[in-house]
Amino acid sequence: MKQLTSTFWDKYFVVYDTLNQLLPYKYLISDLITELDLKKGESVIDVGVGTGNVSIRIAAAGAVPTGIDISPSGIKICQEKIPQCNFIVGNLMEPLPFVDCSFDKAVSNNVIYAIPPSERKLVANELFRVLRPGGRIVIANISPGFSPARIYLAHIREELRLSGILGTFGKILKFISPTIKIFYYNFLIQRSALKGSYSYLSEDDQYQFLKQAGFINISPGKRVYANAGVLTVAQKPNESN
Ligand SMILES: C[S@@+](CC[C@H](N)C(=O)[O-])C[C@H]1O[C@@H](n2cnc3c(N)ncnc32)[C@H](O)[C@@H]1O
Repeated sequence: MKQLTSTFWDKYFVVYDTLNQLLPYKYLISDLITELDLKKGESVIDVGVGTGNVSIRIAAAGAVPTGIDISPSGIKICQEKIPQCNFIVGNLMEPLPFVDCSFDKAVSNNVIYAIPPSERKLVANELFRVLRPGGRIVIANISPGFSPARIYLAHIREELRLSGILGTFGKILKFISPTIKIFYYNFLIQRSALKGSYSYLSEDDQYQFLKQAGFINISPGKRVYANAGVLTVAQKPNESN
């Protein structure tokens, strides 16, 4: 089965940060940050860091993100955005290049769906290994039924509420070209999902992903991203658990 390669993500990242204008995406990042419950100085691994949109908020909260991603251009953008932090190119389908118990927390936003189901066990086990005992993990992924058009419509509805018709129209015009490209890249992602190389995650898929690796206190999945995604929180057991 043909997998979208890092070259696909490198191309997507030319326009990817337009997503920061999209209200459901902004709210999704805020949901992840809230659930991470960050304390100053905490170390956080952001797997599939992309262009650093979660990591930049982790750093703004006074914690210290470390990002890993298969896309060299994503990593370059992260290094430009947050030069004081550590971002490295790496493949999540291989062991993580960090020693056991390196991080207080872990986060992954819209990444695991891009890992073939047969390879996900390693990813979960590696996240478990690099988290310290008692450490928290927060993951979110788009779920079955995902449609970029539905997210965009949710954005327009929310923008109309916040900015009125003229404000909304002005913003849509300003971002029309990158938005069309984003739709195109999402079409390619959907096609990959239909062919079976990508697969979206339900509440139960995320639960099983975390459970088989040994995580405990797994939250019921919370619907996020204009109801198109699911967010789950869990914990690595303490030595006493
Ligand atoms: C939809 S983007 C999400 C980016 C970022 N987490 C965010 O919140 O915007 C999916 C990311 O997963 C990364 N990715 C996909 N397969 C990967 C793999 N095998 N190893 C590492 N990163 C991978 C892509 O390069 C891309 O940055």
